[in-house]
Amino acid sequence: MRNVCFAASMMCADFTQLETEVKQLDTAGIDCFHVDIMDGSFVPNFGMGLQDLETIRSLTDKLVDVHLMIANPGNYIDFFADKGVQIIYFHPEADLNPVRTILKIKDRGIKAGIAINPGTSIETIHELLSIVDIVLVMTVNPGFAGQKYLDFVNKKIDRLISKKIEFGYEIFVDGAISGEKISELSRKGVKGFVLGTSCLFKKRENYQSIINRLKNINPSIPEKVSN
Ligand code: DX5
Ligand code: ZN
Repeated sequence: MRNVCFAASMMCADFTQLETEVKQLDTAGIDCFHVDIMDGSFVPNFGMGLQDLETIRSLTDKLVDVHLMIANPGNYIDFFADKGVQIIYFHPEADLNPVRTILKIKDRGIKAGIAINPGTSIETIHELLSIVDIVLVMTVNPGFAGQKYLDFVNKKIDRLISKKIEFGYEIFVDGAISGEKISELSRKGVKGFVLGTSCLFKKRENYQSIINRLKNINPSIPEKVSN
């Protein structure tokens, strides 16, 4: 299964050996490193810090993205752009001027993504669809790893897929993404998957074997779950 982007959700990594984790994931063929930034306000948690982002950036030439779960994200775009990321996701629910923020990101030559909460409707973000590069659909409530996939979000994913050609954005998903979900959603046209504890981290199987298996998923055959 090609031209699908697998992003490792680094908040799930073993921080006692971050360098080894990054290098093993890089060698194993991960496409992108996903860095969750939280402020304890927009979400009731604190994620990774700037030093973590800088460390990961310094250890790999692969794509690095930031998922900003912070209030007033528009105020910090240059801050994160200066860290050498290729994709910036922000939540329009936390931004009074999301169009300005999207244009600011694109002015820095970076892909602009909006991350939308499970409760956020397409109608709410419709005016942004023609200017964003990626819509990151939260399939869990943002802020924590290890949650359950929210099935009701599938209807919204289907509707976003039906509008994709018209507006030209790509659809990525984040939260409780298993091999089964990758098979099901890639078949529908989802192009990016943030991989956390549901299929990549804290597994007996090593990263190389997991990523090989995920990259060889045949969307027409449901994927077996491995512990
Ligand atoms: C949650 C984060 C996700 C999370 C994914 O807000 O945005 O990236 O780490 O982890 P799992 O797959 O365990 O839900
Ligand atoms: Zn995330």
